[in-house]
Amino acid sequence: MITKLDFDVKRYDGQYADALVALANRSFGQNYLSESRLSQMASQDGVFLTAEIDGSLAGYCVFLYVRAYTASKFLKIPYDIMARYAGGDGRICYMKSMAVERSFRRTGLSDQLFAGCLGDAEISGIVSAWGSAWKQGDKVPMDRIMKNNGFSVYTEIPNFWADDKDTICPACEGPCRCAAVIYYQIFAGRDPQ
Ligand SMILES: CC(C)(COP(=O)(O)OP(=O)(O)OC[C@H]1O[C@@H](n2cnc3c(N)ncnc32)[C@H](O)[C@@H]1OP(=O)(O)O)[C@@H](O)C(=O)NCCC(=O)NCCS
Repeated sequence: MITKLDFDVKRYDGQYADALVALANRSFGQNYLSESRLSQMASQDGVFLTAEIDGSLAGYCVFLYVRAYTASKFLKIPYDIMARYAGGDGRICYMKSMAVERSFRRTGLSDQLFAGCLGDAEISGIVSAWGSAWKQGDKVPMDRIMKNNGFSVYTEIPNFWADDKDTICPACEGPCRCAAVIYYQIFAGRDPQ
């Protein structure tokens, strides 16, 4: 039986910072996020949603609106390609991070958070949205959500997080050797340059 849960989805306002750092580090590995990196992420141009249930954090999703140069660094895709997919104001939408507490997965919450962020990106006038999704073995946990929300696979990049020497990857139990699948979509009615 599927029980409909009553999540309160809202913009991140600093509440549950400790819980959010803990959820991110449990999901992506020790040292992935610190309180200072969280504050920095929250102050950037973009949309940052959290979901709470019964006074606890259940999940979060962050999209950043970044210039083609930054997007090229984040996605490891050449600048000239990213510049073509940026709008007149030079920005693209980048899915920075998303995690849902294990007990609230398979409930529709992840869809709600993701679609909420995507809706904001769509109305911001941005031309295209991108994400680098973690491939754990042969599984990409974000694949269903990305494709259900209009994204297609652009490419796959092996050893994507090799430069990140700090995070201890839970899948590799040490420095990360995982691949990333790069997804993208061009919002309806908008043209790359
Ligand atoms: C990625 C993540 C947010 C996905 O959350 P999720 O709730 O598991 O997401 P999905 O919507 O893909 O659902 C998974 C399963 O639940 C099912 N499901 C989704 N909504 C449902 C609902 N309302 N009722 C019942 N089942 C549901 C899906 O059909 C899917 O089934 P399948 O595994 O048989 O295909 C979550 O796994 C997570 O936080 N992972 C750790 C961090 C991470 O990897 N983040 C992504 C980094 S790029």
